[in-house]
Amino acid sequence: MLQQVNAPVVWNRPLTGDYWLIEVEAPTIAGPLAPGQFVNIRIPGLTPYLRRPFSVYRVSPDRRRLQVAYKVIGDGTRLMTSALPEGGVCDVIGPLGRGFKLPAQAKHIAVIGRGIGIAALPTLVDAAADRGIAIHALLSARTTPNLVGLDIFSERGCTVITHTDDEPSVAQVTDHLIGLDKRHPFDAFYVCGSNRLARAVHALAERRGVPAEIAMEQHMACGFGDCHGCVIDVNLDREGKETAFREVCHYGPVFDTWEVVHARA
Ligand SMILES: Cc1cc2nc3c(=O)[nH]c(=O)nc-3n(C[C@H](O)[C@H](O)[C@H](O)COP(=O)(O)OP(=O)(O)OC[C@H]3O[C@@H](n4cnc5c(N)ncnc54)[C@H](O)[C@@H]3O)c2cc1C
Ligand code: FES
Repeated sequence: MLQQVNAPVVWNRPLTGDYWLIEVEAPTIAGPLAPGQFVNIRIPGLTPYLRRPFSVYRVSPDRRRLQVAYKVIGDGTRLMTSALPEGGVCDVIGPLGRGFKLPAQAKHIAVIGRGIGIAALPTLVDAAADRGIAIHALLSARTTPNLVGLDIFSERGCTVITHTDDEPSVAQVTDHLIGLDKRHPFDAFYVCGSNRLARAVHALAERRGVPAEIAMEQHMACGFGDCHGCVIDVNLDREGKETAFREVCHYGPVFDTWEVVHARA
């Protein structure tokens, strides 16, 4: 159930590249949190007052603490580096939205993340690794320091393939994905952080007849379906014959790729 808590800040410090990592003590949110769900954080002193949504990056083994890996890009995230110091409190709402689904029969999955989108994947990787599912992680970013979470993906036994925009000569993520899938077919695909990758993953999953999910990012205000500030156009059928507006915070942020990759686009 949705909670708003004043969570003690355990620490808040630089992670890698443009990213910072904040850890807070919030057992009522961390305990029931499902992979892919998110939290909405109030940043003290930010005007106009609007919370900022973030995926939960990691939950501690005792499920009392949660981490958010955030990229410093604008006023809110810049302020977050100083306004939420260790020893203070962080006003957090969560767990929010609908997370990833791991099919019961899955033995081998691909997680594909780009940039900020990578931060949505470690909770899924933890859940999959706990079930003994083999994981290939295909991660891309602008530069090597912005490839967040490499330590987690390795620690959880993932086979990791990375790509950065400053290595133009190597094969693209999608080439790797198609090659890997031919050799060891995946039972499900999960993609975050890139519409181009989402379209490629969707096409592959449709050809193979296996599920593919995407974690969407959208500007948000309330984070729980009240303000309608985060609506997107989604397909109600796989052919895209019928569409409707849906709130990303409530119906997502995780969607089946067929819901959001538009057949007519
Ligand atoms: C469900 C969800 C999960 C997210 N998870 C993470 C995460 O784990 N780590 C992380 O670093 N970021 C994540 N984001 C994005 C994060 O919310 C934005 O980066 C943050 O709100 C930017 O705030 P700001 O005040 O620093 O930037 P602003 O000044 O608001 O904006 C700076 C730039 O970021 C863009 N932007 C702002 N909000 C968003 C948004 N919601 N989605 C995409 N672009 C945006 C703006 O267009 C602008 O170009 C997530 C967003 C959503 C909706
Ligand atoms: S952010 Fe308010 S409805 Fe989604």
